[in-house]
Amino acid sequence: MEIQFPAPFLWGGALAANQAEGAYQEDGKGLSTSDLQPAGIFGPVVARQPGDFNIKDIAIDFYHRYPEDIALFAEMGFTCLRVSVAWSRIFPQGDELLPNEAGLAWYDKLFDELARYNIQPLVTLSHYEMPWGLVKNYGGWANRQVIGFFERYARAVFSRYRHKVKLWLTFNEINMSLHAPLTGVGLENDPSPTEIYQAIHHQLVASGLAVKACHSLIPQGRIGNMLLGGLLYPLSCKPEDVFAALQENRRWLFFGDVQCRGDYPGYMKRYFREQGISLQTEPSDAVALRYTVDFVSFSYYMSGCATADASEAQKRRGNILDMVPNPHLSSSEWGWQIDPIGLRTLLNTLWDRYQKPLFIVENGLGAQDRPDCDGHIHDDYRIRYINDHLVQVWEAINDGVEVLGYTYWGPIDLVSASKAEMSKRYGFIYVDRQQDGSGTLARRRKKSFYWYRDVINSRGATL
Ligand code: BG6
Repeated sequence: MEIQFPAPFLWGGALAANQAEGAYQEDGKGLSTSDLQPAGIFGPVVARQPGDFNIKDIAIDFYHRYPEDIALFAEMGFTCLRVSVAWSRIFPQGDELLPNEAGLAWYDKLFDELARYNIQPLVTLSHYEMPWGLVKNYGGWANRQVIGFFERYARAVFSRYRHKVKLWLTFNEINMSLHAPLTGVGLENDPSPTEIYQAIHHQLVASGLAVKACHSLIPQGRIGNMLLGGLLYPLSCKPEDVFAALQENRRWLFFGDVQCRGDYPGYMKRYFREQGISLQTEPSDAVALRYTVDFVSFSYYMSGCATADASEAQKRRGNILDMVPNPHLSSSEWGWQIDPIGLRTLLNTLWDRYQKPLFIVENGLGAQDRPDCDGHIHDDYRIRYINDHLVQVWEAINDGVEVLGYTYWGPIDLVSASKAEMSKRYGFIYVDRQQDGSGTLARRRKKSFYWYRDVINSRGATL
């Protein structure tokens, strides 16, 4: 049967402000957590000194080069581009009463440029960064007041862009806070599980309030959550391993359960009880949580395994989750295990669990691209990776799963999140910028550029 994705299916790519824009101090932007983490989302906070180097300060200079980049996305036939708004462009310290007009104006230009090509923006409110002022002066999401600051920010951007942006996401990979608490919830100094879950609780409440605000300010708007789809298989069919995998998967599904069902699931209440975690809540929290998302979005790069046997669990660090390697899968250069069928499994799992439309807002292969002597990049490995994953998306659609779209992560090379590497490239478009900051920033099409264009134009028939 020839593959033919449904006509309304959205095709495109995904970026994050701090990994692409650069211009970290331009037009009144305040410092964000990302600006103080030069080694990436797991790295330490490093105070800014005059003349220091953080590759994200310029990143790929999307802030100034977006018209050229969007023209290239349009050439591939994109119908959707996922971007994030840098919260600290809009509220530089986080606690101002009024937004920064210059920051708002820049995103107006960005959305207008997308509209010229009929590319729908899908906008993440918070992608791995928050105003540093909220960490320094308030202690990040540990502080209830941050809920209000976030709501003010969300309302400001919803009101401003209500005619330009209909698709929104709340917090990028919200479950990441368990692994990178500074990046996720602005907690410094090795926080305890209670502190982390308390901050997460505040963020979940804020997510509900953002859903409520979006629905009231943008009647045709739709807003989703964003999970890191950390699919884990049992390492063996031993019942203990099967149950360990169930429990491990619940560590990230918990976020989706709250955001889709509007309450804490029973297994989590038991976990809190057994761990002695007691959350400070207010009666209005339960009301806020009941504003559930319209759709579920997620990232998917790899899968892994879980086992109840500690001695077998020779764990290695993936991007975010400690996963036991799967002996049946090969890995990327960065050790991420490649598993296209896992994407079909994940789509079916989330659909069966939530019965809400799904959106794959990140999937991709990070690799070192080596231009040949003519400067061409033959990234067949990337083409193979995406091809195999998209075939599984098609299978899932035929399984009856409602999938809104696919935004490939990093359609243009950008700074990677885990370790702030420029050498880990995802793009269809090569950016001449090297790890030491050298390079012209010139853009160049890779082989995958033409391949993805053909996939989009044929609605998947060329897969
Ligand atoms: C996701 C993030 O975890 O994975 C992105 O939402 C990130 O910000 C992507 O870039 C890939 O990870 P990395 O570390 O290879 O950039």
